[in-house]
Amino acid sequence: MAMLEVSRLCKTFRSGLWGNHRIVAVDDVSLAVEQGHTLGLVGMSGSGKSTLARLVMGLIRPDSGTIHFDGEDITHEKGAARRARARELQMLFQHPTAALHPRLLLRDSMREPLRLHRGLIDPQDWDDAIAQQLAVVSLDPALLDRYPHQLSGGQLQRLCLARLLLLSPRCIVLDEPTSMLDVSVQAQVMNLLNRIRHEQGISYLFISHDLDLVRAYSDDIAVMYRGRLIEQQPADEFYEHPQEEYTKRLIAAFREM
Ligand SMILES: Nc1ncnc2c1ncn2[C@@H]1O[C@H](COP(=O)(O)OP(=O)(O)OP(=O)(O)O)[C@@H](O)[C@H]1O
Ligand SMILES: [Mg+2]
Repeated sequence: MAMLEVSRLCKTFRSGLWGNHRIVAVDDVSLAVEQGHTLGLVGMSGSGKSTLARLVMGLIRPDSGTIHFDGEDITHEKGAARRARARELQMLFQHPTAALHPRLLLRDSMREPLRLHRGLIDPQDWDDAIAQQLAVVSLDPALLDRYPHQLSGGQLQRLCLARLLLLSPRCIVLDEPTSMLDVSVQAQVMNLLNRIRHEQGISYLFISHDLDLVRAYSDDIAVMYRGRLIEQQPADEFYEHPQEEYTKRLIAAFREM
């Protein structure tokens, strides 16, 4: 059974003064992420990748379609049930600062999810649990006495990852997790994510512009084009035997960059 399964999902936005301009951001999309697998999601800017991520996370509601998590229908889950779900299904954002309060010491930012999910870990063990996750991402606990602006981008993204891992997630949506980082740090964060996936059997929905990165770290690759999912293939087949004309152009354009 798939860890995360999206079926016939649709989302239309209205904009313009009278709401008369319709944007079909996600159009009849179905996909599945197996347990412990990574599904890479690629497509040009505006193709609907982040909208799909936000739908999966319950940050916005679909017009139609369903989202199942470990066999359970979570499409209309709200309130306490959704907050409890947020422990197992988490998201790592492109900008690590988005997840952290600028004026909170990082120690307090790290405690925040444990406060929200009270009962998961005994408060007297919080500091140990935090130190343990910082060790997983190779960060010095002394950094906890700093504010977000006093860390590098790579350090911040690793800290955000440690913060997610505190709650033992089973699936993480990664929306361009390394696109703000320079290439050497990018590889470091991707290798870390990959190692954690293997060790802990977490599933990833991995959104990226970088086809090489997606290919190196995904089991399967799905392509979005204007809100629709036009192709899904095992990662090696994707480069060798792209099916759709658009996918061929996407690969060619990426190689030219
Ligand atoms: N809240 C919103 N209101 C109106 N339109 C929106 C909203 N959010 C997204 N859109 C539109 O939906 C479409 C898909 O946007 P989305 O952010 O999902 O694209 P994306 O594939 O993540 O792009 P990128 O690669 O640039 O991050 C775009 O046309 C965007 O302008
Ligand atoms: Mg996006």
